[in-house]
Order: sequence, then structure tokens, then C-alpha cells
Amino acid sequence: MIKRNNGFKNLTAGYLFPEVARRRREYAASHPDAKIISLGIGNTTEPLPEYIAKALSDAALALGTPEGYSGYGDEQGLTALRQKIADVFYKDMATADEVFISDGAKCDIARVQTLFGSKVKIAVQDPAYPVYVDGSVIVGAAGKNNGKGYKGVTYMPCVPENNFFPDLSKIKKNSIIYFCSPNNPTGAVSSKEELQKLVDFANANGCIIIFDAAYREFIRDPSLPKTIFEIPGSRTCAIEINSFSKPAGFTGVRLGWSVVPKDLKFADGSLVHADWNRVMTTLFNGASNIVQKGGLACLDEQGLASMKSVIDYYLVNADLIKKTFEGENFKKAGAQVYFTGNSPYIWVKFPGRKSWDIFDTLLDKCHVVTTPGSGFGPAGESFIRISAFGHQKDVQEACERLSKLEM
Ligand code: MLT
Repeated sequence: MIKRNNGFKNLTAGYLFPEVARRRREYAASHPDAKIISLGIGNTTEPLPEYIAKALSDAALALGTPEGYSGYGDEQGLTALRQKIADVFYKDMATADEVFISDGAKCDIARVQTLFGSKVKIAVQDPAYPVYVDGSVIVGAAGKNNGKGYKGVTYMPCVPENNFFPDLSKIKKNSIIYFCSPNNPTGAVSSKEELQKLVDFANANGCIIIFDAAYREFIRDPSLPKTIFEIPGSRTCAIEINSFSKPAGFTGVRLGWSVVPKDLKFADGSLVHADWNRVMTTLFNGASNIVQKGGLACLDEQGLASMKSVIDYYLVNADLIKKTFEGENFKKAGAQVYFTGNSPYIWVKFPGRKSWDIFDTLLDKCHVVTTPGSGFGPAGESFIRISAFGHQKDVQEACERLSKLEM
């Protein structure tokens, strides 16, 4: 018989969000009258702006006509969309042929792991979006878990004490560094000076940064960098991954992109761009042509304005959640609230308590689902993450219930 892939054997827990969903289902089954509100997974809730929905529907209808039909397209994506992304988001920082269109950031992160294989060293911010570590375990790059974490992974704590920016000196030479800003789950956004330190470190130590910028459109402070390519030196050490999921509500529609600069090289001098092109053309057949037309509409003047107003809506929710956790009842319980106004996530610490216990209390007493911080890594213990994605009336109701809670 075929031996099981060790990578799967090495995984120590189920994927975080299905586990949260399982606990919610179990609770709902035993409490059928509970009106549960989810502020757990960062799942968008607001309808697509009409302008964008129309572009999707026009593209679908066009496929039913001889002039509008198209079959396979370029695996790297529509030339017009690659160009539009380069123009709107990267100006003179990256060119259209360095942009690769995909079916979303999570899938790109998984494909990036095939690019570097099982022998590469990994460094992650701790806490971190679980795909970086779990995906590395599956491809064999993370090794076994010794109870404190995976052997092949350097965990870089990002905690209030270091203003959520890690001690880079912990990173081993020639590592792949996963870095997310605005950060999921902490909501912290690294400044230009901080990202410059990261880029300088990577260039000096043969590292490649996988920069996850999926939440860039939530940045409201104009002094904060929205892409790693704003940072001098980044083109020789960074790949950026991004997505239409959160800004355009494409979580179910599926569309993302990566940027791989042609200045980025492997140790033998070959271009990472060439191998990424091979990965994308071999393991992927291109994003849906309908969806790519929707993506183009998102980046028109009207599309950009409508995306901004949906994000503003979620940021109003975020502010309400932040104020709720700053309330007297939570203060009495010792809660410490972290929220910068530039992200859809509120990060709250309950010193001395376990994340899953807080999760259970909020579910049981308020019927509100959150995400336990420990699910994002060891440094997430004692924290919970509250997502601002939700209908405003649900978020208001959740906040009313939470403000009455005696911890
Ligand atoms: C999250 O809740 O962290 C994300 O929404 C999950 C995802 O984007 O895959």
C-alpha cells in the first residue's frame, strides 16, 4: 500500500476555521434557540456593489454569444487585468508581466510552497494566518511538532511588548519569511521604517519575504505602506500576494494576484519569476474569465469608490467592536484591546486566561463566535480575534450582548 505523506502525519491540529465552525455547530445543535452571531472567520457579508455584479453578469452573458465566447485564457491572467493591477496598485514599482492573476491569496500561498519545496527554512510572525505554517507542514518544510511548535519553523513573536514587530535576529539565513501587514490576526500595520528593516535583513541574509497584503485597502493612515514594493530594496527579496476577497467581497467569487519581481533571484542566479511562471502555467489554468472581468470593474474609478465604501462600512463595525471591548465589564476582567483603525480585526488579550476558554464563554454567554488567538500560533494564547465583517445590525446586537456580559 502507499505510505501516507509524512506532512499530513505531522499536522498536529485541524485547520483553525473548520474547528471554530465545528464548535459553533455543536453549540447550535445543543442550544437550538440560540441566535448565534459570527464574528469569527473574516468572511465578507455585504452584497457586491451593483456596478461590479453587473460586470460579472455581462461577462457571463457574453459567453453565450459567438463574439463574446472564450475558452482557456493565459494562465497568468488577462493582459488588461495584469496591466490594470500594475497601474492602480504598483505604478512604477512593478510591471504588468510581474503580476500573476489567481483564484485567491490562500491558493497562491499554497503554490508558493511548491516553488520552494521541502528543504527550505521558514520564519513566521507569531501569531500568523495558519496557512503559512500548515501549508509548510504539508509540503514537508516544517518538520515535526515538538509540542512548542514545528522544528523547521522560526516563530517570531509579535506582541504588544514589541509593538507587534518581530525581533528579526531570530531568523535563520536563507529563510522564507511570511509577513502579513495589515496583520491577520493582530491588525497591526508595520511602518515604512519597520518594513525597511525587514527588507534590509532579507537582502543581507539571503531570505525571501512572502508579503501578504490582503488587507491593504483597510489602511486609512496615509503614512503607512500598502505594499512591500514601496520599500527600497524590496524587488530583490520579496514576493507579494494579494486578493480581491476582502476589498471587493470576492470571498466566494475568488480572485487574487501575486507580484514576482524579475530582480528576485535564486542562489544559482536564475529568476524566481521564471519558476513562478512555470508553477502557474503547470499547476493552474487561469482564473475564471468571468471573474477577471469583475476584477477589471473593481479597478475602474466607480469600482474603486464602491469598494472603499464597503470597507468604510466594515470599519464602522470595527470601531463599535473596539469600543465594546473597552467597556467597563471587560476592563474589570483585565481585557486589553488592540486596534489600529487600519484593519478589520480587533485583537483582545485576557491576561492569564486561555483563548479557547474565552471563546467558549463568549459563545455560551453571548452567542457570539470569535476566533481563539492560540489558533494562530503560540504567541496568540490569551488573545481572541474579533472580525468586523458582518451586517451592521448583527454587529450592533452582538455588541449589546457583549456589553452586558459579566466575565
Ligand atoms: C480569516 O478569518 O483569517 C480569513 O478570512 C480566512 C481566509 O481568508 O482564508
